[in-house]
Amino acid sequence: MNRRSRTPRMWLALGLLLAAAGCSSTPPPPPPQVRAGQPDRGATLIVQYGCGSCHTIPGINGANGLVGPPLTRFGARSYIAGELVNNADNLQRWIVDPQAVEAGTAMPNLGIPPIDAQDIAAYLYTLD
Ligand code: HEC
Repeated sequence: MNRRSRTPRMWLALGLLLAAAGCSSTPPPPPPQVRAGQPDRGATLIVQYGCGSCHTIPGINGANGLVGPPLTRFGARSYIAGELVNNADNLQRWIVDPQAVEAGTAMPNLGIPPIDAQDIAAYLYTLD
């Protein structure tokens, strides 16, 4: 073997390396924009369940809590609580039972039925 025949292999290796690096930096897909549920009812439920005592939530009167993270632009987020990919099923799961997703999280289980969680999620996804 002479030096010339090795050169293409080197370029191939470099190409694979660059492709792999490109892959690992690809962001997760953005959350889908079309959802089930009634956002208006969700807004009313957010007030009833008192989410605003812990969260700042745009468009909800008095929702200026600072215990949890602000839920601003929630529809544009990639992750829920840094644990779940942000999609409708996972958001409902979080709202119904955050302790099952992340044991010991400061967000308590509030006894929210799935149908209410669906509407609350629908409202949060209007925030993008
Ligand atoms: C007692 C305070 C408290 C209440 C009440 C509360 N939360 Fe939370 N919430 C938190 C905390 C603290 C976190 C951060 C949890 C974590 O990252 O582990 C959180 C996280 C979240 C997240 C993920 C936020 C993110 O940035 O990824 C969503 C969505 C959420 N809460 C929605 C709600 C909704 C909807 C309600 C009302 C039904 C509610 N929360 C009620 C404290 C609360």
